[in-house]
Amino acid sequence: MEVRRITPADWHLLRELRLASLRDAPEAFGQRYEQAAAEQESEWRSAARASSSGDRRAWFLARTGDAAAADALGLVQARRRPPSDCLVFSMWVAPAARRGGVGVALIDAVAEWARSWGAQRIVLWVFGANEGALRFYERIGFRVVPEGPDAESGRAFGALAMELPIGHPA
Ligand SMILES: CC(C)(COP(=O)(O)OP(=O)(O)OC[C@H]1O[C@@H](n2cnc3c(N)ncnc32)[C@H](O)[C@@H]1OP(=O)(O)O)[C@@H](O)C(=O)NCCC(=O)NCCS
Repeated sequence: MEVRRITPADWHLLRELRLASLRDAPEAFGQRYEQAAAEQESEWRSAARASSSGDRRAWFLARTGDAAAADALGLVQARRRPPSDCLVFSMWVAPAARRGGVGVALIDAVAEWARSWGAQRIVLWVFGANEGALRFYERIGFRVVPEGPDAESGRAFGALAMELPIGHPA
């Protein structure tokens, strides 16, 4: 299995994986399948391009690395929120690949990218009813953010904010 940052040429894979995730787990995400399916090719191309380099935003894709197989396994989106937070969205692993460490590998890739521009923590939101994802994030070190703007904005749509410190103390 390999996890790598998206390239501009991967726009079709981004579309395929994102639509698969919204079909598979509509309850886990804030966007509706129909909304994503209606997006123009130019929007996917532009998202892939903008996320392929630099420290503003990134998508990471997990694949088997086996060219003969239907090899897309999962994806995650990360965005820089200055000064030092990395926000994570759209995390999904294909059902057949779950519990095999793909989720951990995706978060590791995000953390490596985020550390490269000095992030101190990863922040994400998970719907309260999404027990599996909550267990996953807790297992890998995330904790619920009890109060503050991220906790409040999450609460407004039934989600918990979670954080993982990733900074190295000076
Ligand atoms: C949450 C999700 C990304 C986890 O991906 P994954 O590749 O299965 O996770 P990993 O294999 O890296 O899991 C690492 C550890 O987390 C824990 N874990 C993962 N999924 C779990 C679950 N459903 N229930 C309880 N613990 C879980 C386990 O301890 C696991 O280690 P183990 O399998 O050796 O016991 C995946 O289940 C998924 O895509 N769910 C649907 C979409 C979704 O909810 N996304 C999150 C939106 S916020």
